[in-house]
Amino acid sequence: MNTLKILITGGAGFIGSHVVRRFVNKYPNYEIYNLDALTYAGNLENLRDVEGAANYHFIKGDIKDIPFINSIFEKHQFDAVIHLAAESHVDRSITEPNAFIETNVLGTANLLNAFRSIWKDHFEGKQFYHISTDEVYGSLGETGLFTEETPYDPQSPYAASKAASDHLVRAYGNTYKLPFKISNCSNNYGPNQFPEKLLPLFIHNIKNQKSLPVYGDGKYTRDWLHVIDHASAIDTIFHSGKNTETYNIGGLNEWTNIDLIQLLCEQMDEKLKSPKGTAAQLITFVKDRAGHDKRYAIDASKIERELGWKPKMTFEEGLSQTIDWYLENTDWLVNVTSGAYQAYYQKMYEGR
Ligand code: NAD
Ligand code: DAU
Repeated sequence: MNTLKILITGGAGFIGSHVVRRFVNKYPNYEIYNLDALTYAGNLENLRDVEGAANYHFIKGDIKDIPFINSIFEKHQFDAVIHLAAESHVDRSITEPNAFIETNVLGTANLLNAFRSIWKDHFEGKQFYHISTDEVYGSLGETGLFTEETPYDPQSPYAASKAASDHLVRAYGNTYKLPFKISNCSNNYGPNQFPEKLLPLFIHNIKNQKSLPVYGDGKYTRDWLHVIDHASAIDTIFHSGKNTETYNIGGLNEWTNIDLIQLLCEQMDEKLKSPKGTAAQLITFVKDRAGHDKRYAIDASKIERELGWKPKMTFEEGLSQTIDWYLENTDWLVNVTSGAYQAYYQKMYEGR
């Protein structure tokens, strides 16, 4: 088996930590370098179980910092990059768009430039794998699915910043022959997700008997995929995907927000041994998200047809396990929701 030095950016975040864990455990012959700035969303507690592994290395640093990025590429000569570091929450992108442009666009450019510079445009056996989102395609009507050919039509500052980073990666591939792959994935759920995103936020609020702020009429649709299935798709694409190709990843699992929240409330009542209907009483319809995308749904037939990947986790099982994880990992939730989280919550939800 080949030895590779792989830089995984954003490895202390939600999806990144699952990718790091998988690669560290499954590929002992690879040296895994996790580069993360440890923003509010990054948490080394997510990786306690692998931090002592011989093939795991953590580097604290910011992808916006050009001299620092250049220096770590020069020092470690990474054969491959799996790039997940990003500002990832749509609501934050509405209040602070520049943070998204700086990290998601300029940060990606810095990594591409450093990768080019160490390999001096001789890229045999190298790859830059960019992790992106289905939000770059915009919003669907009642029917239809996003395919890899769907034109880009990003609607939020977050989506636009991810679209710009996808374009940069492809442009470097075209101009400098930098070898790349891109995958665009639907909504992930599972353990270790920061409780600003719908599912962990609502689990946390139900547990603490706080209201559940449903944006608008709640009839927005998302396609949910367990994070472990996403990590396995990333592994498949990294090893078997073709150079310069894009792969859409999805769960074939569409839910309107309100139906998903009802299901979550039912499961939470059972798990907390509350009378039926208790959690649902917390549902509160609040002011809609600005520019809220109506529906996302992924056509994941290319990755299944060409690479043999499809999701393994059923939604019922995945949701139940996810709730159990948040109920069991109280310390994790308490730690991430102390301090700055309270100020964020007030700013985002007060007066909605
Ligand atoms: P996250 O917010 O949980 O984690 C992001 C990580 O990146 C954090 O550890 C953070 O500390 C780090 N980071 C942020 N800015 C950085 C910087 N300037 N320098 C270095 N590190 C920095 O995000 P996530 O949900 O795990 O998403 C990871 C990637 O997957 C993102 O690129 C996102 O666009 C993409 N994605 C997410 C989803 C989803 O449903 N969460 C779906 C599809 C694609
Ligand atoms: O589709 C992939 C994307 O999924 C990723 O690229 C993003 O990083 C990730 O955050 C996610 O974006 P969404 O905006 O779809 O996820 P979020 O959990 O923020 O919201 C899911 C849906 O729930 C959305 O329609 C908005 C709604 N919502 C969300 C929150 C936080 C509410 O109704 N109330 C809330 O408090």
